[in-house]
Amino acid sequence: MSVPETQVTNDELSTRLDTSDEWIRSRTGIRSRHIASPADSVAGLGTEAAVQALKSAKVEASDVDMIILATTSPDHFMPATATQIQQNLNAKNACAFDIQAVCSGFLYALSIADQFIRTGSASNVLVIGAEIMSRMVDWSDRSTCILFGDGAGAVLLGKREQPGILSTRLYSDGAGYDMLYSDVSDAAFPRGKVVMNGRAVYSTAVEVMEESIRAALAQNELDVSDVDWLILHQANKRIIESVATRLGLPFEKVVVTIESFANTSSATIPISLALTDLKRGELVVLSSMGAGFTWGAAVLRW
Ligand code: ACO
Repeated sequence: MSVPETQVTNDELSTRLDTSDEWIRSRTGIRSRHIASPADSVAGLGTEAAVQALKSAKVEASDVDMIILATTSPDHFMPATATQIQQNLNAKNACAFDIQAVCSGFLYALSIADQFIRTGSASNVLVIGAEIMSRMVDWSDRSTCILFGDGAGAVLLGKREQPGILSTRLYSDGAGYDMLYSDVSDAAFPRGKVVMNGRAVYSTAVEVMEESIRAALAQNELDVSDVDWLILHQANKRIIESVATRLGLPFEKVVVTIESFANTSSATIPISLALTDLKRGELVVLSSMGAGFTWGAAVLRW
């Protein structure tokens, strides 16, 4: 994982906005977030995370067949930011592309990578989630800007006889399109600014993540009691707690990283994977929900 150096606390935000540490913490669980400087880029953060993933997998960049970057905040609308990461890594034998499924982007990318590996079309796939959300929010809108942070995480998927990814399930419903979107009508925000119906997002997130996790477990003939770790998209600590409660999963099996990183969109799951001490053989369930709406779940045997 990789995050920009600068950390911005709730107290610092409350010097510029009509908000407070108490409000933000009690409503979201967030205490601080990492915010990019002008010199930071999505490709830079993604590259740093990818370098670590390659190192920990002991795979050379030249052996990577495919680089999939999940991002909502690419450095440029064209070309794909993934190609800049490819160049930075000198991963000459890879194809590289971005995918956009907002906060569910990492799960979508993971699922695409899994299909390529299962069909034998790829052996080593880098899956990266990287975002600079701070360039997409209106810093005068206290109801949205406090929620987001910047960062990246990456995994290297390789071919094995026993698949580590047991299954993935992806969903979307365009009926939620205008519940969370980037508004490009204001010339002051060339990348658009995040507009959100927070309550609708909250209730939908809780419902669909629970449903997709139950479906993903059932598909593998597994039960909630088999789960060692639940890693959810980190949008709001209360959403995470509600999903765990509805599933009947003890909180000590639930990963919470939102306190220090806030919502880094497609990067929250790989950042959380990097921060969790996962042991071989453990059953890990991932799930996310984001704009679109998009959502999904994955079941992994670590
Ligand atoms: N500080 C202080 N007061 C605030 C702030 C703030 N930062 N933001 C809003 N308020 C005020 C509102 O103006 C409102 O005041 P009013 O009652 O005088 O009108 C009051 O707090 C309540 O506002 P609500 O929006 O109703 O607050 P709610 O309890 O719904 O919490 C929140 C808002 C935290 C955004 C919540 O709806 C939420 O987390 N929703 C999920 C959205 C989300 O996580 N989006 C991220 C992207 S999507 C994803 O990743 C899944």
